[in-house]
Parts: sequence; structure tokens; C-alpha cells
Amino acid sequence: MPSFSLHFLTRVLVWLVVLVVVRVVVVVVSSFGDYVPPNFNSEFLHGREGYFFGLYAWAFYAHIVSGPLALLAGLLLLNPRLRRRWPVFHRWLGRAQVMGVVGVMAPSGLVMAWWAAAGPVATVSFITLSLATAGCLILGWRAAVSRRYALHQRWMERAFVLLCSAVTLRLMVGSALVVDADFLWWDPLWFDPILSWVSWLFPLGIYEAWWRLARLPRPAERPRETS
Ligand code: HEM
Repeated sequence: MPSFSLHFLTRVLVWLVVLVVVRVVVVVVSSFGDYVPPNFNSEFLHGREGYFFGLYAWAFYAHIVSGPLALLAGLLLLNPRLRRRWPVFHRWLGRAQVMGVVGVMAPSGLVMAWWAAAGPVATVSFITLSLATAGCLILGWRAAVSRRYALHQRWMERAFVLLCSAVTLRLMVGSALVVDADFLWWDPLWFDPILSWVSWLFPLGIYEAWWRLARLPRPAERPRETS
């Protein structure tokens, strides 16, 4: 693909991601009214009265606050202009992000995974996702400390893509509801567990492919063939 069109496509995609992430954060925050105090008739809390106390309730409230904050912090941290202009702000926000995600968001996701509404297949997916997200942030932080900035950026981009699973999951569920679900033989029994995996493996695959594509040598840079 010509480098110009790939560059243009990347910019359009970046803006699309920013808009969708901000929109999902607004939607999540605006549903806090259903959670404080807990409304067990609301979509997410329906049927969870039996275990919505103690560890689960703590994890839930920690998760719904730390999740949106992690997404917003991720947008700011990955913005190259902000990073160049305010490197100290980037460093402090980065430290807060690592602490918030590794210390609060990923562990709370891990706890909630045991009670995942979509069952054991989704439980394994969410546990893997929690560990992978925390792992990427720790590796990214270690790379920054040892001044390997290209590697730092790569791990942090991966971490953000994994955080965006919360966004893709909601987009995919929303799309399935808009496209007639019966037409797709949609049954939450198998659709939701599959979605819990697709929501992070698919964006991660796209990111890895894009990263490799963007680094392919341009036609002018390729060595000439000799006959
Ligand atoms: C490491 C990444 C993440 C993992 C492993 C994770 C895990 C989970 C799990 C297991 C649940 C409960 C699902 C169920 O019982 O069916 C959940 C719910 C939730 N998560 Fe996450 N999550 C992650 C990232 C995020 C992010 C970045 C946000 C930010 C918007 C977020 C916001 C929420 C909210 C608001 C709920 C409950 C209410 C709802 O679905 O609207 N999560 N998450």
C-alpha cells in the first residue's frame, strides 16, 4: 500500500478510536446511577444479588472507576504531541497509569471474571486478558526505565489495545443487537463467550498487522533486483 494512503488511513483510524473511546467512557459513566445504589433490575446487575457484596462489590466499584480513567489516561499518554510538549506530565501520568491498571483495574477484572455472566469460557478469557494487560504495562514500564523507548512505546500501545477490549465488546454487542440477532442465529449461550475472546484478540491482531505493515520498506527503499 502506498505510504501516503497508509499514513492517511492511520490518522483517520486514530481519530475514530479517540471518538469511540470517549463515547464509551461517557456511556459507562452515565450508567453509574444504576450502580450507586445497586439497581438489580439494570442490565449488568440483573441476577447478581446473590454475590454482589464483599469482594465482588469492592472489585466492581474499583473496576468501574479505574476502567474509564485508564482509557482516558491511555489516550493522553499515547498522544505524541502531548508527550513531546510535556514530558514530565507524561512520566507522572504513566506512573499513575501503571499503578492504577496493575494495582486496581486488572486485579478487579480478575476477581469479576470468576462470576462472568457468559460462563467459564469467558472467565478464562477475562483472566487471560487481565494478566496480559498487566504484563504489557509492566514490560512497557521496564523498557522506559531502561530507556528503550521504541520497545516502551510498543508495549504501551499493546496495553492500550487490550484496554480497548471494553470498547470493542460494547461495539460488538451493540452491532449484534442492531443487525437482527435472530437472523444471525444469535444465541447468547455461545455468542457471548466467543465475543469475550474476539473483543481483545481481534483488535490485537489488527494492531500487530498494522505495525508490521507500517514498517515495510517503501518501494523506493527496496534494494533493486539485479539480473
Ligand atoms: C484488562 C482489561 C479488562 C478486564 C480483564 C475486564 C474484566 C471485566 C469483567 C470480568 C467484567 C464483568 C463481566 C461479566 O460479569 O459478564 C467487567 C465489567 C465491566 N468493565 Fe471491565 N475489564 C477490563 C477493562 C475495562 C475497561 C478499560 C473499562 C472502561 C470502560 C471497563 C469497564 C467495565 C464496566 C463499566 C463493567 C460493568 C458494567 C458494564 O458492563 O457496563 N473494563 N470487566
